[in-house]
Amino acid sequence: RRSRAELLHQHRQLQETQARLVERERLAAVGQLAAGLAHEINNPMAFVYSNLRELERYVRLLGERVRSTQGEDGARSDPRLAFVLEDIDGLLQETMEGAERIREIIANLQKFAQGEQRRLVDLGPVVEGALAMIRGLVGGKGRIVRQGPTSLPPVCCVASEIGQVLLNILFNAVDAIGAGGVITVATFVDGEWVGIRITDSGAGIEPASRERIFDPFFTTKAAGEGPGLGLAISREIVHRHGGEIQVRSAPGVGASFTVLLPVASVASCP
Ligand SMILES: Nc1ncnc2c1ncn2[C@@H]1O[C@H](COP(=O)(O)OP(=O)(O)OP(=O)(O)O)[C@@H](O)[C@H]1O
Ligand SMILES: [Mg+2]
Repeated sequence: RRSRAELLHQHRQLQETQARLVERERLAAVGQLAAGLAHEINNPMAFVYSNLRELERYVRLLGERVRSTQGEDGARSDPRLAFVLEDIDGLLQETMEGAERIREIIANLQKFAQGEQRRLVDLGPVVEGALAMIRGLVGGKGRIVRQGPTSLPPVCCVASEIGQVLLNILFNAVDAIGAGGVITVATFVDGEWVGIRITDSGAGIEPASRERIFDPFFTTKAAGEGPGLGLAISREIVHRHGGEIQVRSAPGVGASFTVLLPVASVASCP
């Protein structure tokens, strides 16, 4: 039987998780709005900007013409004309600066809306970075074995997102192993795919659970330990990158998670 305190605690956790999900949705909606707005403003701004350049050229031409046909004295003899010729340069300058500011704001808005840009990434150092983060967590409890190349063919990705995937799988592996356990991290290339396989010597996954481990909120951990989102988020990220995440497990022997991502080239990465 669960105590009232435990239920209350779980309820609060669910509420917090829901709030986080709603926040994510909201951010996505704001991002879309920003992208749409930036796009709409960009088009008219493009011709405002190019017209301004043209105007500047025309005004300079007109000024020169007035001065040459009327002579410097002629322009001076009409004080209003002299004032206009003097003032117009400053006005144009300020307008150009204003347009430049708007262009910068729109560019920043677009960067924000698109999220981090994908690049060609060697996942070798990303793997090392994730390993460095969990070494302290494993401590004397177990051992980490690293296999395969430390440099890999390029993958088109947001490095921090793939790093997050590896960490989620590694956290689970650390949770799974007992004293003297082993976590093996192997990198490999298989045809057009770059692979990272994380194997642990833990208790493995029950066949009944295997279908559900990628479901959001599925967890076998004690209340308050994990909301059960690690693998759900990881799969979403890997799929978004055109990859696959596979699991193999024999109960009692351990579990093995493989992340596969397509090899990319300059031509196939924005
Ligand atoms: N290496 C593993 N060995 C055994 N079971 C695992 C392993 N990795 C995942 N699982 C099972 O899959 C479930 C879901 O994992 P997931 O990472 O999505 O959630 P979680 O670890 O329970 O919580 P969270 O990651 O949100 O803190 C785990 O609760 C566990 O039952
Ligand atoms: Mg987890």
